[in-house]
Amino acid sequence: MSGHGKGERRAKERRATPKDRRARQAPPPIGKDRRAAADRREIDRRTAGQRLDVILDITRRLMSVTDLDALLKTMAEATASLLAADRATIFVVDRERNELWSRVALGAGEIRFPVGRGIAGTVAQTGEAINIADAYQDARFNSEPDRLSGYKTKTLLTFPMKGNEGRVIGVFQVVNKRGGGAFTSADENTLASLGASAAVAVENAQLVAEQKRLWQSLIETLAITVDARDQQTAGHSQRVTRYAVVIGKALGWEGKDLEKLQAAALLHDYGKIAVRDEFLQKPGKLDDAEFAYMKAHAEKTGEFLQHLVFPHDMREVPMIAAQHHERMDGKGYPKGLGADRIHIGARIVAAADVFDALTAPRYYKPAYPLAKTLEIMDGMAGDHLDPRVMKAVHDALPALEKTIEELKPTWPKPGDQGMGSIAEAAGGLSERDRPSVATPAAEAKP
Ligand code: C2E
Ligand code: SIN
Ligand code: SIN
Ligand code: FE
Repeated sequence: MSGHGKGERRAKERRATPKDRRARQAPPPIGKDRRAAADRREIDRRTAGQRLDVILDITRRLMSVTDLDALLKTMAEATASLLAADRATIFVVDRERNELWSRVALGAGEIRFPVGRGIAGTVAQTGEAINIADAYQDARFNSEPDRLSGYKTKTLLTFPMKGNEGRVIGVFQVVNKRGGGAFTSADENTLASLGASAAVAVENAQLVAEQKRLWQSLIETLAITVDARDQQTAGHSQRVTRYAVVIGKALGWEGKDLEKLQAAALLHDYGKIAVRDEFLQKPGKLDDAEFAYMKAHAEKTGEFLQHLVFPHDMREVPMIAAQHHERMDGKGYPKGLGADRIHIGARIVAAADVFDALTAPRYYKPAYPLAKTLEIMDGMAGDHLDPRVMKAVHDALPALEKTIEELKPTWPKPGDQGMGSIAEAAGGLSERDRPSVATPAAEAKP
């Protein structure tokens, strides 16, 4: 599944045209601005040894950044400062689409354009640098971004970043050299030195991103598979995941913690894959023996996930997933853990799980309104659910409400197998939520 597999097209290479070669010749220094010329000499003096030190330092930093966006940003800043340029943009070649893209240029958003278009696109296509003293004198220059931003591009050095086998994997573009004058051949040499290690860093980051996508799509597939066991739970894992993330954010979680929470939520009911249909799809209340079978799903989740070799920083995921039916009073399952041994992530998944079970319809209950859901969940706080997590649920109510609306289309529908009886559920409540006078009848075995 590497990115270097089949279907890859090599950017068409052509020789530099005479025009390119003309373009690469730096014009003489602008004589009328002596101060600027002095600045430039000062910058150029910082050549050879010093520049090499800076390049090595940048290289070391680049190698430690595996997030592609962060890497490109670091690289652009380092390049601008190294070449005393006002701006620098790193474009990455998307070989599948034969396009260049960048996220760092011009602030927000992503820009994309075909390989071959504009100056950056030409460099990506030819693999040859283009160094021009006045962008507006060059027909290939795309002045649209300038027009939109009000920025005025003058000097422009655009340099290919080459990976294995000389393939162009990206393009450096530095704009407006400080102190006036065009970029020099020393600048080109600097970019050539930086380019080699930058390419390795970019290829590493792309590989890491690919592995991450594989990993993410694998666990999503597992979640979809278990949800597909049954119409009732269709979309349940995805919804619990969305709610868990909203609650996690309300607790101030971010980054790796949210990723762990998301993975555990996606996989929390994976063990239901081993629960027989007669229990999973029962229209009414489960009797004790049936519920005992059903309870095995949490333990199975832990067992099955033991087989997945999780990345080091994700190794708590099976444990968090397997604890989603533990309770604060120690009366939960499968282990009956005390509150202090239940991972905070599992407490969040537990709340998100109950939140979806109550707001969405089940064979044995209709969808409850938000107010009823909160009333029931507040009653569970302390004994069952973590009060701190319940506070976060209340703090996050606007976001949760919005998320419910977004997810309603994924709910099981009355027409789905087994869902026909929803509307007739007495009082619009499940048996366990009906007033206790109804309980004796409700407890009768079907
Ligand atoms: P689930 O439907 O995803 O429900 C997850 C959790 O939400 C339940 O864990 C419970 O804590 C809460 N919950 C679900 N439905 C209700 C309800 O009607 N009222 C209240 N107050 N809370 C509710 P629990 O009890 O450990 O159940 C685990 C799983 O066992 C459920 O997952 C569901 O698949 C099944 N199950 C539980 N009770 C019944 C039932 O009466 N009939 C059927 N057919 N299945 C049930
Ligand atoms: C662009 O931002 O479209 C690239 C400018 C150019 O290389 O012409
Ligand atoms: C935490 O407080 O973030 C972890 C300890 C716990 O409540 O389980
Ligand atoms: Fe569960």
